[in-house]
Amino acid sequence: MAGRRHVEQRMRDVCSRFGFGEVVTPTFESSELFKLRSGQSVVEEMYAFKDKGGREIALRPEITASVIRFFVNDMSTMPKPLKLYYVGNCFRYENPQSGRYREFFQLGAELVGAKNPETDAEVIALAVACIRSSGLEDFKVRVGHIGVLKSLVREEVEDPETAADILRMIDKEDFDSLSDLFDARTLSRKLLDRIMTMAETRGGTEVLDALDGSESAGYLKEVFRVLELYGVDDCEVDLGIVRGLDYYTGMVFEVDAPRLGAEKQILGGGSYTLSELFGGEPVFSTGFAIGLDRVMLALAAEKSLPEMPLLDVYVMPVGDEMRKYAFALVAKMRAHGLRADVDLMRRSMSKNLKYAASAGARYAVIVGKSEMAERAVTVRDMSSGEQRKVHADTVSEDISKLLGH
Ligand code: HAM
Repeated sequence: MAGRRHVEQRMRDVCSRFGFGEVVTPTFESSELFKLRSGQSVVEEMYAFKDKGGREIALRPEITASVIRFFVNDMSTMPKPLKLYYVGNCFRYENPQSGRYREFFQLGAELVGAKNPETDAEVIALAVACIRSSGLEDFKVRVGHIGVLKSLVREEVEDPETAADILRMIDKEDFDSLSDLFDARTLSRKLLDRIMTMAETRGGTEVLDALDGSESAGYLKEVFRVLELYGVDDCEVDLGIVRGLDYYTGMVFEVDAPRLGAEKQILGGGSYTLSELFGGEPVFSTGFAIGLDRVMLALAAEKSLPEMPLLDVYVMPVGDEMRKYAFALVAKMRAHGLRADVDLMRRSMSKNLKYAASAGARYAVIVGKSEMAERAVTVRDMSSGEQRKVHADTVSEDISKLLGH
């Protein structure tokens, strides 16, 4: 948890630096809220049940719909854009495996009230800054536009259910099933080729030139121009991004941590409208959510997580008589703001040193009889073994200085 909290705090700090404020929404909501436009796969994976009053409720599979409901109910008259972020647990009834859990944690952000390349770029820049702040080095940001594939499929495939199936298979990169579906429904092979070419279009912004005249491609170029001004230059175009949730209307983006294998997607987001479904005016928004569990796995895989010792100092009395001094000393250290612990097991000096090392303490303070006679104690640097004698009344200040506080 120390590592996780550290990462979470760094991401929260980044959100504040981008002008985003935190919101908290309930863990469960009326099932309807998530059914309205989340899409078939999310609805199938929902933890939905009746409460004692017979109401259909669901544990949230994601937090975007809740934030927009909150916006419609309580924040719609506030000046726009609204910049909101959240951290919370989500629930999906999936097949659990490494990196795919039935309860998992998201940190996400929603920028509500605008639709233009600047807002999309701002949200992507925030997402990248959050991931970077975690210390993760090996990750890939892919940015696409849902309009490109959706309009192609919807124009050519009349049956909306078949169109939805096609988009779902592209999202899962399940091209074998896609090919089978085309055979089963006797759809044109030419269309399949066009879809496959589009789904595999990746690279720098120059790949957008091939789609000259496409509104979506022009829009994406604008987004990339603003990203460049923000100094975010490591995103690539990927027109194959479809996203598992149905509410997206424009720019969509994902971040992968390649070391994670099958469950490598650590972030997903894009622009959408949901407010009109909850009784509000249609308001455009852009947002994303980071899968915190996956970020922690990715950090562990690349060994980028810093060691997080829980203790600054461990106080050890030498002999029973010194115990009273040790307790008084540790109390002073704690009041001073140090993370301090004291021997509670009446251990010998050598066992205490072993314990202090395994607890990860940076310093040990040895309270011995002869030093105490002159109100001094010994401070031992646990990594170098170096020892020095300091005055017992100033030992907290001395250790704070050594720690660089
Ligand atoms: P999502 O792509 O469904 O998007 O989820 C976001 C992230 O949550 C994923 O990229 C993944 O890292 C993590 N995640 C999803 N399911 C699991 C799971 N079963 N176990 C572990 N991690 C998981 C959304 O939820 C949208 N609400 C994002 C968004 C916000 N779009 C606009 N605003």
